[in-house]
Amino acid sequence: DQLKKLEHVTDLMEEFGKIENVRIGNPTDVKEKLKKMALGGEHKLLVISDFDFTLSRFQNEKGERLSTTHGVFDDNVMRLNPALGQKFVDLREKYYPIEFSPNLTVEEKIPHMEKWWGSSHQLIVNEKFSKSTIEDFVRQSRIVFKDGAEELIQSLDAHSVPLVIFSAGIGNIIEIFLQQKLGAIPRNTHFISNMILFDENEQARAFSEPLIHTFCKNSSVIQKETSFFHEISGRTNVILLGDSMGDIHMDVGVEKNGPTLKIGFYNGDLSDQKALDHYVEVYDIVLVHDPTMNIAQKVIDMIN
Ligand code: C5P
Repeated sequence: DQLKKLEHVTDLMEEFGKIENVRIGNPTDVKEKLKKMALGGEHKLLVISDFDFTLSRFQNEKGERLSTTHGVFDDNVMRLNPALGQKFVDLREKYYPIEFSPNLTVEEKIPHMEKWWGSSHQLIVNEKFSKSTIEDFVRQSRIVFKDGAEELIQSLDAHSVPLVIFSAGIGNIIEIFLQQKLGAIPRNTHFISNMILFDENEQARAFSEPLIHTFCKNSSVIQKETSFFHEISGRTNVILLGDSMGDIHMDVGVEKNGPTLKIGFYNGDLSDQKALDHYVEVYDIVLVHDPTMNIAQKVIDMIN
């Protein structure tokens, strides 16, 4: 049985080697991790995933950019109240280039990210959006699951493998999205995200603390999750799924000495070799412009 599992790992590595948009910087290392994970099986497994442009698609078939969870407000508010909508769009146009700027350090970016998240959250709270309005917004949004994302979430649930959705987006929007797409939020799913807090009239009144932005997805915000991570402390083998440099430390709250296999979606410019090389350096497996969850699913199927 163990031998069979190890054979699977060899087959999988061979298969990945033939897929054009799969980049693996250190195949020996990845193979070692996969072996440990295969032998550990589903009872040792934990999946930690980003949401925006990781579980959700980055662009549609026409190459048009799709929406993040925050983007749900930009689009819908623009339609209903263009003056306010413009404020969301202005914030994005100002700060998005800073988030991805190659010329600034993370330390230099952080105050801008706090400003961006803080300002857009303030707009949401000032407007007192109701829960049902937000549900409508999500229904009309351009958030789209990657191909196979629904099946991946359901297969983890079926095997009772915990899925932590760790997002600097808005957790309620993810919950509503899952509810609408899957009919219910799977029991195995745990959220670490920014939550809109509603008052007794179900109107937005505040956001949860601490604020989670792109560059603090690490131990600084996981602290209040210690009891959850303790509960799952037997799960020492982690598959981490992300799309940005801010996602690579999402596993720091896990009490473990097992491997973390980091799978990164590269949505950036194909001609930017330096950026792509950087992804290949920090992620074990890099998927270039991949609108599917196929590779992650293959790894999970191999383990389960
Ligand atoms: O880490 P995650 O991918 O979940 O981050 C959410 C994304 O939402 C950020 O990368 C940022 O570009 C985006 N965002 C946005 N509007 C905001 C704040 C963040 O589109 N007001």
